[in-house]
Amino acid sequence: MCGIIGYTGTRDVAPLLVRGLRRLEYRGYDSAGIAVASHMRFEVRKEVGRVADLERSVEDGLEGISGIAHTRWATHGGVTRENAHPHLDNEGRIVVVHNGIIENMAPLKTRLIAEGAIFRSETDSEILAHLIAHFYHGYGSFGDSIIPDIAGDPVAAVKMALSRVRGTWGVAVMFLDHPGMIIAARNGSPLVIGIGDGETFIASDPHALVPYTRRVMFMADGELARLTVDGVETWRLDGGTKTSSIETLEEEWGDGEQGDFPHFMLKEIHDQPEALRQCISGRVLVEDGTAKLGGLDLSPRELVDIQRVTLLGCGTSYNACLVGAYAIEQLARIPATAEIASEYRYRNPVVDPRGLHFAVSQSGETADTLGAVKEIQRKGGAVMGAVNVVGSSIARTCGRGVYLHSGPEMAVASTKAYSNMVAALCLFTLQLARTTHLSAHAGREFAEHLQAIPGLVEQYLANPGPIDDAVRWVCDSKITFFLGRGVSASVAAEGALKLMEVSYVPSIAYPSGEMKHGPIALLEKGSPVICIVPNDPLKAKTASNVQECRARGARIIMVHTAGDPIAELADVAIPVPETLEWFSPLLTVLPLQLLAYKAGLALGRDIDRPRNLAKSVTVE
Ligand code: G6P
Repeated sequence: MCGIIGYTGTRDVAPLLVRGLRRLEYRGYDSAGIAVASHMRFEVRKEVGRVADLERSVEDGLEGISGIAHTRWATHGGVTRENAHPHLDNEGRIVVVHNGIIENMAPLKTRLIAEGAIFRSETDSEILAHLIAHFYHGYGSFGDSIIPDIAGDPVAAVKMALSRVRGTWGVAVMFLDHPGMIIAARNGSPLVIGIGDGETFIASDPHALVPYTRRVMFMADGELARLTVDGVETWRLDGGTKTSSIETLEEEWGDGEQGDFPHFMLKEIHDQPEALRQCISGRVLVEDGTAKLGGLDLSPRELVDIQRVTLLGCGTSYNACLVGAYAIEQLARIPATAEIASEYRYRNPVVDPRGLHFAVSQSGETADTLGAVKEIQRKGGAVMGAVNVVGSSIARTCGRGVYLHSGPEMAVASTKAYSNMVAALCLFTLQLARTTHLSAHAGREFAEHLQAIPGLVEQYLANPGPIDDAVRWVCDSKITFFLGRGVSASVAAEGALKLMEVSYVPSIAYPSGEMKHGPIALLEKGSPVICIVPNDPLKAKTASNVQECRARGARIIMVHTAGDPIAELADVAIPVPETLEWFSPLLTVLPLQLLAYKAGLALGRDIDRPRNLAKSVTVE
């Protein structure tokens, strides 16, 4: 979703900001803009569409050594150049970029217009430019309150403006009177400060900073910072004293480069063996038949006391939660459920203080998942993160948890992070089950199979089977069905989500047994039905549902365990290597990822940046 990058220092700022925006592109956006303090004015350029278009519009040279820039994912107001950020005040002396939502926009806008503010966009964000200007110019009381004399003080003006807005913000503001200064503030939308040598950066995500510095300060909610070439000063908006400290980014952030692959999605599918090794390595204790997730910091005593496990996430992460809940309940014999975070947070959930919660998220910034974490904490529950991005808001808010170690995931459609979520939850399952009742022998078998998974993933990807045949049918169909039972029902859900996201082919996933209770009415002769049928105890049941679809003329695309005669029921059979039931999602999901990728390619879609989607969903 929206991205911010800002810089003050001695470098030519326009190319630096454009490069930063490019590194934020993966979050998803529909327009972009830049403001540079240049020759005693703010030069602002905006474009609808790609950062590449913006880059062309700054080619004539935007001279300056400080500026702010933004990628916008539309919320208030359509996708237009006017609505793209940055936004200026009436006189063009204050410029703002903003992520988040201003909830009390309507009354503020009415008052500001009455005072003479000229709005040039439909956005909520433009409010901030005018409101800050109002206080900066010392226009006196606003509404029914009297303000102290803060004219000409950028920090005080931003503080005062933010005290009048309700909602969420990650905001960066510049004043023409102080061209080398950026004021940044955070409340609910992430911001990270980068500290260089005689230069300072602000960004909504560390990925934009790693080419320049690894010394960072993750801003906390309620914090405000003044950035200059000399460094940074921070305050808390509530007057408190505790502010963030400087940290060094871990190497893992790497570059997230595409290499020789035509798309990030394909690269990330092929990254999976290595990503899984990174996740599993050092955490499986084969001899003891258990696993150790040090970041959870749970003693065996605390583990045996867990009465229930609740896994929360959105999108692909929710689908990974479904796999985790299934494995935990089956193996550890503890009630476990997966919850859609956006639903959970608002239904006044009963939080069991003897239960354990996991917030599962690639970005660690999904607003709904973060909201659910805070709700659980408010109700006295324990919540751990299962997060990929180190230092992200969910990781910090949870304080404890497990990092996924997928490496940077850049394609909007998640692949390797999904696999590492499943692997991390399987590690937890083993640790928990072994503490409760699993024997050393059974634990060792589980551990050995888990360790073998990266090699099996590699083996499959080297020989992925007849995906292209399936792609033809899927691309020609009005709708594609995905069916599976047990743990494979959640793989079906992930397969359908992936296909929708990347190819826009309407897709529906159902537990196989539910097909006849409704969706079967949609089946037509030739409809593609993708059945996930690994060699597990429910296989024979799914086979009956496959027959029901065949009898109605459906084309069966089957993902099955190599060598299993069940493949005879299929029109296209895609074998995957054999493993234990609990790990089968790590293999059966692979053909579905490739299918989505290849269908998107065949239909000419923007694979890495599908329309309307965002990688990091920081609004609810
Ligand atoms: C967005 C992305 C999905 C992702 C979901 C949850 O919808 O497009 O790919 O699964 O957010 O994101 P998270 O970062 O919390 O895993």
